[in-house]
Amino acid sequence: MFTILEKNDLAAKVYRYVINAPNVARKAKAGQFVILRLIDDGERIPITLADWDPISGTITLYVQAIGKTTTIMSQMKAGDALLDVVGPLGIPSHVEKGKTLVALGGGFGIAAIHPIVRAHKRIGNRTISIIGARSKELLIMEDEMRAASDEVRIATDDGSCGTKGFVTTILKKMLTTHEAMDVVLAIGPVVMMKAVAELTRASDVETLVSLNPIMMDGTGMCGACRVMVGDSVQFACVDGPEFDAHKVDFDLLVARQKMYSPQEKLSMEIFDKLCKAQEQRETAAW
Ligand SMILES: Cc1cc2nc3c(=O)[nH]c(=O)nc-3n(C[C@H](O)[C@H](O)[C@H](O)COP(=O)(O)OP(=O)(O)OC[C@H]3O[C@@H](n4cnc5c(N)ncnc54)[C@H](O)[C@@H]3O)c2cc1C
Ligand code: FES
Repeated sequence: MFTILEKNDLAAKVYRYVINAPNVARKAKAGQFVILRLIDDGERIPITLADWDPISGTITLYVQAIGKTTTIMSQMKAGDALLDVVGPLGIPSHVEKGKTLVALGGGFGIAAIHPIVRAHKRIGNRTISIIGARSKELLIMEDEMRAASDEVRIATDDGSCGTKGFVTTILKKMLTTHEAMDVVLAIGPVVMMKAVAELTRASDVETLVSLNPIMMDGTGMCGACRVMVGDSVQFACVDGPEFDAHKVDFDLLVARQKMYSPQEKLSMEIFDKLCKAQEQRETAAW
């Protein structure tokens, strides 16, 4: 049983879940993800492993409610169980000694960079995390990122915390002042990952991004997560999700993410109507 043991409401429709999943927790490595199914006829959604504990047999996930399945998950509470959790999936992040890592996270991307930064720090690499949000109230995991990194720099759109601007504002300044860095890792919205790739291209710093295409089976069979990296067709679920940012076709990624937008919109509208009808029935019963 994949029981939710803890659930916390964080900022901007982001929720933290600690879930009982001993087989995943035993094998998980930084950079990997799971595919969840909540109910019998539900869709499968990929979610990054933000943390895990092989001793207690738990995994920690941060999920942003943006469509039907993530909204259903946002309504689940501690004690509820997910139907299945498949993983760990994907190739673990390559963590090599003697590097200075600069990791940028936006939105759920902060949860995704967390275990990778921690893995680098554990082997003695210097780690600088740059995390961002629209405002201070919407920033997640500041304490966890401070514990996992040598240094944390913060950017908020409105300047309510740290530098006013985007995470790329901070990276741009670091590049301009030739601050030492060997590897840049960016995880978050595609527009942010693409901007990071453009910034580091000129200085030729190794840059990695963790791609988030639509996924279905997570086994390399269905082709849903197809991405172009250089001249090569790659399946993010088995060949990634991390790729060389300077070779990724981000425009294709965006186009493929939007492939089912009308169906996703309709599905959310029907779900909203069902929720409202249920609320009305409950109010009438009172
Ligand atoms: C490897 C990987 C790791 C991920 N890790 C996390 C995570 O840790 N936390 C988290 O909150 N989300 C994560 N995502 C994104 C998450 O899987 C999607 O947000 C989720 O599948 C949306 O499902 P839905 O039914 O709620 O929304 P849908 O109705 O399917 O989609 C709603 C909107 O989101 C867009 N969308 C759909 N799928 C994705 C996607 N894969 N990425 C970005 N936008 C999408 C759609 O175009 C649409 O506009 C990850 C995705 C991948 C591929
Ligand atoms: S999700 Fe089906 S091939 Fe990757």
